[in-house]
Amino acid sequence: MFRRAFFATVLAGMLLAYVDARPVDAIPAFARQYDMQCNACHTRPPRLNRFGEQFHMMGFQIPSASRPDGLVGSLKDDGTLKTVIDGLALRVSGGLFEYSESPRETEVKFEPPDEVELFVSRAITPNFSFFVEFEYEPNATEFDRDRGYFNRGHKFGLGKEAFFMANLGGVLGALGAPTMEMGGQAMVGRHGGFTMHGPMLMAGKIDPNTNFSYATNRQLILDTELEFEKEEGENKSKVHRLPIVPYAFASKFFGVFKDRREHEPQLVTDQVMYNTTGAPGADFHAMFNDVILGEVGFLRENEGFNTYGMVRYDILDRKELTFNVSALFNWGFGVVRAPDSADHERAGGQRLDRLRYGVAANARWKGLDVYGALIWDRMYGLPSELRGEFDRTAMGLTVQADYLVHENVLVSSRFDQLWAGGLKDEKLDGTVLTAQIRYYPWQNIAFFVRDSVNLRKFHEDNPLRSWRNQLFVGIDWDF
Ligand code: HEC
Repeated sequence: MFRRAFFATVLAGMLLAYVDARPVDAIPAFARQYDMQCNACHTRPPRLNRFGEQFHMMGFQIPSASRPDGLVGSLKDDGTLKTVIDGLALRVSGGLFEYSESPRETEVKFEPPDEVELFVSRAITPNFSFFVEFEYEPNATEFDRDRGYFNRGHKFGLGKEAFFMANLGGVLGALGAPTMEMGGQAMVGRHGGFTMHGPMLMAGKIDPNTNFSYATNRQLILDTELEFEKEEGENKSKVHRLPIVPYAFASKFFGVFKDRREHEPQLVTDQVMYNTTGAPGADFHAMFNDVILGEVGFLRENEGFNTYGMVRYDILDRKELTFNVSALFNWGFGVVRAPDSADHERAGGQRLDRLRYGVAANARWKGLDVYGALIWDRMYGLPSELRGEFDRTAMGLTVQADYLVHENVLVSSRFDQLWAGGLKDEKLDGTVLTAQIRYYPWQNIAFFVRDSVNLRKFHEDNPLRSWRNQLFVGIDWDF
């Protein structure tokens, strides 16, 4: 109750302050801080363009426009209220209406938007910034750890990401590397010669694949909800339908678990490892000569942890045409549990290591934005009793194209292919095609209609394929 009241108060306060302080061009944090239009950084939020990505890589800084005196300077010039408001942004997204079809039943339901996110972000100094997301979900699906099954309820708390970013370029300078300064930001290298932005440390609850050619968090086609049912009289819930997500980044394995104590399943469609939407960790990235980006880091996951390395190369960067590719190598130490070989509904004693590697690419030309990723996964350390009944390899492919037809209209299409791994008597591959049209009456509000089709044979008992068609009408609103 307190949380709800707190949230409502914050919301009302922001709205009031907003209406008071600003006319029509209602604009989230970075646009306000730098006095820029959304499309300087976004094709359409939350997708970023090349400039927006560089802005992110440099720790939410535009060196040529940054204030050397940082937060102190803006408090002095703009006052506290404006400084605080300029650091906030709000996003409301989710369904309004849903129609789903399967041979067993055809469902139609009205739904309120299912996610409200509040972002607080700001550069404190030219070399230090933070980004924190709070999330309110009126109807969140969560695994109830005490009772051991999925449940729905209100959820308010820290969102997917909450981290700080610090530029360590100055540290290398102190160790003797040649450095330059731009708007107070330290950069390694020489004018006209070799340059390096960073290394940038990003630590907290992070989404490391923010630098990848296909970033998990910047979805224009939102993930759908998990469908499940509590089983009568039993401490169990049965998953009927898995969400539609970009399959390349999904867990991909049937029958594995997150942990031993609660026996929480690691769902086939959970976005895991380097491609998580947010997990505790520390990430270092640096950009060389503005075209090569290197990244390494650690990430906690379930009872284990990940290490990863990623290289990205921005091959083309002409005015209207950009093209980049990324390669990933990721090793997870004990990040999932195999099922118990005697009872597949329970987690076994064995923690598995997991290898993930893959490539991603992104090409943009005028209003067209095409991106995709192909990711392989492989499990290690499987107990010998499971050898014959568990497939240790899996693969996923996701390709998306967005096209801004017109200032107000964005069409998108995504293809997802999953070659599943895991328990052989449960696993099935999946193929989904999604199409969406978004209409923007204003820059910061979109209404969308999207439809997903299961291109494989319907399977009533398999949650990946227990549907034929799903249609959604929804809203995505930033202010
Ligand atoms: C100076 C660059 C810049 C400008 C201008 C800008 N943004 Fe952003 N925006 C970003 C970056 C960087 C992120 C973080 C993205 C990420 O981590 O994927 C972001 C994140 C967001 C998010 C959160 C996405 C999510 O759910 O994680 C929304 C919503 C958003 N911007 C909307 C807008 C809107 C609307 C405007 C204009 C009114 C705008 N932004 C202007 C750079 C910018």
